[in-house]
Amino acid sequence: METISGHLYDYPKYYDLIFGSDWAAEFKFLKAGFLKYSTRSVHQLFEPACGTGRLLIQFAKSGFEVAGNDLNKHAIDFCNRRLERNGFKPSAYVGDMADFKVKKKVDAAFNMINTFRHLPSETIAEAHLHCVADCLKSGGIYFLGLHLTPQSPPKCATETWSATRGHLSVVSNLWSIAIDKKTRAERIGVTYDVYTPTKQFRIADETVFRTYSAEQMFDLLVKEPRLRLLDMYDFRYDIDSPIDVTADTEDIVYVLKRVWDGVT
Ligand SMILES: C[S@@+](CC[C@H](N)C(=O)[O-])C[C@H]1O[C@@H](n2cnc3c(N)ncnc32)[C@H](O)[C@@H]1O
Repeated sequence: METISGHLYDYPKYYDLIFGSDWAAEFKFLKAGFLKYSTRSVHQLFEPACGTGRLLIQFAKSGFEVAGNDLNKHAIDFCNRRLERNGFKPSAYVGDMADFKVKKKVDAAFNMINTFRHLPSETIAEAHLHCVADCLKSGGIYFLGLHLTPQSPPKCATETWSATRGHLSVVSNLWSIAIDKKTRAERIGVTYDVYTPTKQFRIADETVFRTYSAEQMFDLLVKEPRLRLLDMYDFRYDIDSPIDVTADTEDIVYVLKRVWDGVT
């Protein structure tokens, strides 16, 4: 199969086919979470690093007012085109999740499936939390979902997804190449194998995720006291089953509430 070296997020059509089909559990969980945790009624949402807007489009269709940013222009164009096609404002824009402001504060925000781990340093991760705290109304909620690096060797080193729409099929593999414990950088390999009736090819990319242990995440979260940790979940996305974090916890969703200067 021909292999092209390309940047994973420069192919929103393939990204969205794979991950866009996997929205329902997160969507249901987030919606239930807004009801469970927010002290205000949730209508306006912001997604930092929204990518193709696979979740934003579902929330828009469900009556929420949505907006988001992302560094990748291809993803933003894809997101806005789909919002417009469905009769919504093209409310996503190119921007950095660690350096953004919103014109109108929102009721809730979310950042799922490891997106946050793209932020390369502690200072930048902290800047992200400050931006989120600034963008939320008092009582608003932030859901932050990522994989922690457990102390024991990870159970699953490779993840595979596949999806088909019409004549297009995509199989994606993602695996951990190596972790540099000192710099907390995990090199990740990713491929998309693309199948159409006339051609087959592979897009191969490498990206870097910052690693977090449970403790390192707690140390980071306390640096933004306006975001108070309420609960934690895992990627089963069961709103009735918060989890206790241990040294071996891998996937986690933090529920953070915007409080005024650390006071509810
Ligand atoms: C795994 S995708 C997730 C997209 C979307 N949040 C979702 O759940 O489908 C990660 C996204 O983060 C974006 N990204 C990475 N670093 C970023 C940054 N500093 N600011 C904004 N977006 C960023 C990438 O361009 C990519 O679209």
